[in-house]
Amino acid sequence: MSILDDAKQAVQGAVQGVMQKAIQLAPDSFMPGGRSDPLIRAQHGHIGKPISRLDGPVKVRGEATYAAEFPLDGMLYAALVFSTIAKGRIATLDTATAEAAPGVALVMTYRNAPRMAPMPLFMTSEKACGGNDLPIMQDDRIYWNGEPLALVLADSQEQADHAASLIHIAYDVDPSVTAMAAAKAKGTEPGTFMGQPLKFASGDAGKALAAAVHQVDRTYTTPRHSHNAIELHAVTVTWTGDTLRVHDASQMVAHMAWSLGHVFGIDEDKVHVTSPFVGGGFGGKGLWQHQVLAAAASKLAGRPVRLMLTREGVYRIVGGRTVTEQRVAIGAAADGRFEALIHTGTVAMSHHNVLPEPFILPTRSAYAAGTMALDVEVAYLDMVANTFMRAPGEAVGTFALESAIDELAVDMGIDPIELRLRNEPDKDPTTGAPFSSREVEKAYRDGAVRFGWDARGAPGSRCEGEWLIGTGVATATYPYYRMPGGAARITLARDGHATIDIAAHDMGMGTATAQTQVAADRLGLAMEQVTFRYGDSTLPGTVMAGGSQQTAAIGASVMAAYRALVTELLKLAGNDSPLAGLDADAVVGVDGGLARIDDPAARESYASILSRAQRDEVVVEATPPAPLETMHWSMHSHGAMFCEVRVNAVTGEVRVSRFLGSFDCGRILNPKTAASQFRGGIIMGLGLALMEETQFDERSGRIMNPSLAEYHVPVHMDVPDIEVMWTDIPDPHTPMGARGVGEIGITGVGAAVANAVFNATGKRIRDLPITLDKLLA
Ligand code: MOS
Repeated sequence: MSILDDAKQAVQGAVQGVMQKAIQLAPDSFMPGGRSDPLIRAQHGHIGKPISRLDGPVKVRGEATYAAEFPLDGMLYAALVFSTIAKGRIATLDTATAEAAPGVALVMTYRNAPRMAPMPLFMTSEKACGGNDLPIMQDDRIYWNGEPLALVLADSQEQADHAASLIHIAYDVDPSVTAMAAAKAKGTEPGTFMGQPLKFASGDAGKALAAAVHQVDRTYTTPRHSHNAIELHAVTVTWTGDTLRVHDASQMVAHMAWSLGHVFGIDEDKVHVTSPFVGGGFGGKGLWQHQVLAAAASKLAGRPVRLMLTREGVYRIVGGRTVTEQRVAIGAAADGRFEALIHTGTVAMSHHNVLPEPFILPTRSAYAAGTMALDVEVAYLDMVANTFMRAPGEAVGTFALESAIDELAVDMGIDPIELRLRNEPDKDPTTGAPFSSREVEKAYRDGAVRFGWDARGAPGSRCEGEWLIGTGVATATYPYYRMPGGAARITLARDGHATIDIAAHDMGMGTATAQTQVAADRLGLAMEQVTFRYGDSTLPGTVMAGGSQQTAAIGASVMAAYRALVTELLKLAGNDSPLAGLDADAVVGVDGGLARIDDPAARESYASILSRAQRDEVVVEATPPAPLETMHWSMHSHGAMFCEVRVNAVTGEVRVSRFLGSFDCGRILNPKTAASQFRGGIIMGLGLALMEETQFDERSGRIMNPSLAEYHVPVHMDVPDIEVMWTDIPDPHTPMGARGVGEIGITGVGAAVANAVFNATGKRIRDLPITLDKLLA
């Protein structure tokens, strides 16, 4: 038996020991000390079935109404004019020609815009979701190149666009900081994420690195990325008195209602936001200036307004992922174990923003290391506020971390999978908490077999004609979160139909479908007997479709409501019921009613309970316990990402020919919608690896490629068949045993591609995207 096998067994034994202990502490519960969720164990029913999206037919028929598709009586169309300088003041503003143009109803600028508070910045309070906290058309000051300075309302979109082109603005330019080097020269500040410093140190990593037998110490860079959801950011708004109605494309309707209320000085219940269908979100569909401007202009004009950003408009005012410069240094012992792990670097941010790209997040829990030093520093630029974009932190952090590990494996002559498994931690390396469930090795072993990893050759050893072929691997990882999701409501009718109400979201990922499966299983109903209502701020709940935590957040709220429902039903059932005297823990929803868990023959249908109680329906609402599970356990999903590339030796063109993602994300609720999430994430990762780059002119702070003609994302021809597989091992500490699947797919992909490119060519590209010029250089 090799040293490696010994080490692996030791790691496995330790992991099992920790797991057993954790399970003893709280058997099958997602809350420490809480009750078990029977659905974690359920092997039959709707959960786990590849059910097609319930909203598929209406979308295919064109009957799904998106934010910019609500025709309102007397509606006006909006167009925006954007600043062309990074900082300064408006010197002259000529709107007369635009105002006189055909169809124009109103031109709004700082001169006539209503008084409004700045947007409440994301994470500064529970329901704050503004992308920046700058004044919105309140004075003549300009804060970024692309800031909206004028809005035109007209009878048609074409008239609005034309009139907008007639507005002339002259500027008094102030000095600005738009180059990264200049910003760094002014000094950096430590980054924070969700109130926590992005800094961690254990031991003297610098010293351990210097003393290590094997070392890598490299710098990796990643560019800005712009949000490019298929559906453009859009809003249709109207006022009735002081009540604001908003048809939005949103990942957070409850947050939107509160935040817009804050801007206009009205209660959140005076703002009604709905968002039944969204054409992709990825972190970009929160509150930006367009919703505020549309509402303000509608107020001013006294008419409904539709504002759909142009693609350029999205680049100008919706932030994306910021630029990063990352150092990863690893010192390893002769057996490959990490003695030092250093991941530090700098990101760019605007002054009116809360998200430094937190690239050290994956490094906090991915590997055991004798010493560690992690740090994200922030350099401040005058630019559009950046924001969350699919796996903020992990998407680009894993590029640097997992590239460096590949470099170390090459230097040491160790298989990169084996090197990773030798460094599997037995507890969270930064918090010391036990893992709730961690099956990294299984994901790698199963993936390696399916992918045919063994067929791999030495760098530059395989070619077909002028195509060099190589394979690479990298770890994907993303945390389990559960934000407090507020209440859910269940309405159970006498005919056995249940309606679940919660202000959650389905942006195309299949939320409503998966949650209908879960609710049907929990209640013991058929899919057709459950209606899942979401995407409406008047529903209970404060769920955000972000952080890959919506499934868990909704699940916990629905569990709480289900328990309240069962308690109420048992009360109504009374002494004549076979369920008399039982409490909620003693029964389970099955076959359209409740049954005793220890004696399933003792049961009564919902119809029977309600009719005896002479009730047409029962309505309950309940809130779940706080997400304490993440304080007791280290909770993360993982994946093993396998990539095969073909690189043209003459042109440098890179083609991804095969990709396999082997995931460990807990219980998979719906294999069909989950596979689409994984694949979609991987495709976005291929864009990150090979194409996506916001061209930011460091002289002017202007984004120079604000269109899909010049900002490349993968198209069908760029995407090979992508295989996905998963462990499907339930996490005993999450609702339904599931962790999120929305974001992990993009993580690890950049490194898997870069590592495959190295294996094909012997060339290590440390600067994304991996374009052919870098391979020919
Ligand atoms: Mo995601 S970046 O949490 O929408």
